[in-house]
Amino acid sequence: MTPSPSAAPESPTERKILLSGSRPTGRQHLGNYAGALAQWLDMQEECDCFFMIADWHALTNAYNDTSELPENTRQQMLDWLAVGLDPEKATIFIQSAIKEHAELNLLLGMFTPLGLVERTTSWKDLVIEQRIEEMRTYGFLGYPVLQTADILMYQAHVVPVGRDQVEHVEKAQDLAQKVNVRYGEVFRIPQWRIGNAPVLLGNDGRKMSKSYGNCIYLSETSAETWDKVRVMVTDPARVTKKDPGNPEKCSVWDYHKVFTPQDRHAEIWENCTGAKWGCIQCKKVLQEALDTKFEPVRERRAALEAKGDEWRNVLVEGNRKARARARQTMENVREKLNLFASDGSDNS
Ligand code: TRP
Ligand code: SF4
Repeated sequence: MTPSPSAAPESPTERKILLSGSRPTGRQHLGNYAGALAQWLDMQEECDCFFMIADWHALTNAYNDTSELPENTRQQMLDWLAVGLDPEKATIFIQSAIKEHAELNLLLGMFTPLGLVERTTSWKDLVIEQRIEEMRTYGFLGYPVLQTADILMYQAHVVPVGRDQVEHVEKAQDLAQKVNVRYGEVFRIPQWRIGNAPVLLGNDGRKMSKSYGNCIYLSETSAETWDKVRVMVTDPARVTKKDPGNPEKCSVWDYHKVFTPQDRHAEIWENCTGAKWGCIQCKKVLQEALDTKFEPVRERRAALEAKGDEWRNVLVEGNRKARARARQTMENVREKLNLFASDGSDNS
């Protein structure tokens, strides 16, 4: 097939800019993979991607004890690299290394009506409803403003996020708009994007969460994974193998949708609804799919870990690239806002 001119590969400068990030929560679980990493892997092929470790955001609730931050960052980086985030294709960096984020956070704060931050779901939940006094901080109230700074800093077109983060990207849109109305085209208005993967539950049937101890981690061995998959909560109607099940009521089915090759889905469905397979048989199919997908990841992770500081070098290089972009943005912002340039020269 002869490619039409419009199908010609775009030059790097025409590629869409994508930014996403995650607080350093440590080892990544299958929920992180389905909800974020799988999409990021696809996107790094076609977009100019920035993937950020949001360590300042982690401080909003960890400010009293930051001792786990370094190890959580290391574990997260090992997983990101092991699954295939590629520093040759994407810029992988750490928020706190790019001080420009703090500067933009401050400037955006001037434009931020209190109502905009006060209506954030997590603020309303933790501070207003649950009255958790330690969360009643200026920093936590400003969470969406800092996130806006992260996004606008790189002039991102697209921000892939989980459903719960959409409101933050909408705040970024509002704030960008507000600045642009006064000062011209300062910021690109970012678009959020949510993936279509189902939200995976923990193996006890509750929301997957580190604190519940119900997560399956990417870095677990095949045997450890099976120990968790084997006891996964399934459709409660299936008391014995003879009871027909409904995959829609079973979180194992959601895992199949993400990890098991499409061509086995009909077979799974029939064997469940027709009461032909026991749940263990069904879970073995999942286990096989997980092993196929993650065995190479486990190997790459072990190899990376053996190389000691390799993950750190990736960050150093990513930080360098991110910083160069961030500085450009901030010089432009200063100029548009009639502030002095960062070298102290008058912009007028
Ligand atoms: N708030 C996000 C999380 O909890 C992390 C994050 C920080 C982020 N800045 C971002 C995500 C910018 C997308 C874009 O995981
Ligand atoms: Fe769930 Fe599979 Fe059991 Fe059906 S057979 S209830 S899909 S684990």
